[in-house]
Amino acid sequence: MKSLFEQQWQTYRTVLEHDAMEHRAVAAATGKELQIWLAQRPAHRPLPTLVDLGCGDLARMADLFRTLPLGAYTGLDLAASVLPLAAQAMGEAPFPCRWEQGDLLAWAERPNPLADGNQPERVDVIHSAFAIHHLSDSQKIQFLRGARQRIETDGLLLWVDVFQNEDDTRETYLDRYIDRVRHWPALNTLQIQAIVEHMQACDWPAQRGTIETIAAQEGWSWRWAWRGTSGSEALAVLQPCSLKNAITP
Ligand SMILES: C[S@@+](CC[C@H](N)C(=O)[O-])C[C@H]1O[C@@H](n2cnc3c(N)ncnc32)[C@H](O)[C@@H]1O
Repeated sequence: MKSLFEQQWQTYRTVLEHDAMEHRAVAAATGKELQIWLAQRPAHRPLPTLVDLGCGDLARMADLFRTLPLGAYTGLDLAASVLPLAAQAMGEAPFPCRWEQGDLLAWAERPNPLADGNQPERVDVIHSAFAIHHLSDSQKIQFLRGARQRIETDGLLLWVDVFQNEDDTRETYLDRYIDRVRHWPALNTLQIQAIVEHMQACDWPAQRGTIETIAAQEGWSWRWAWRGTSGSEALAVLQPCSLKNAITP
């Protein structure tokens, strides 16, 4: 089944252009967190690798990623059709880029490739924006468990997404968000209907509090770095637990 993103590419572009989900602010907050993490990284370490899970067309993030001192970037998305758009948005980057069609949960559960000397090769930074909420609650636990194995012990997981409040049910969350969508600018009735149908079928935002507890059980420290004005969109900064509190707000 094609995703909303594939069927309604122009709809998502319109949402982005009008900044209805506050992509600009969350991109700025993401950039700030990456700079803090890069600044505390020892100079002798190799340039870090970054995997972007559910990269989409990179319309908002390419300008930031291109400026980072990375050793390599991998953009992964379920929708093969977005990958050429992402590659085009990234353009000439000063590091190698790979584009991979695939499922982010399958990526997290994949064993680490063996590097030279047969040591497992881990990723330094995992970024995922507005994609993990498509996983069910049990799949989100599997994702956190798998990603913990795939990331370096001093790595960084930047999880940008929509989240439910602790007192929300999925129904109260969806009612509130759908009411908001109905007031988003520049969308026609069919586009609003497509977004609402997509949300009802595919959106399973993690509940704040519950997901923090689960993340701790799976070996992650958790810090909220940014929250959008509507309260749903947010950036969570996760690190393997041994480095808990290594980054100060
Ligand atoms: C709302 S878009 C976000 C795109 C981009 N990260 C951004 O912030 O603009 C969600 C993206 O996640 C992808 N996606 C959804 N579920 C996925 C999964 N299980 N594995 C990989 N990609 C997925 C969709 O194809 C889509 O490109």
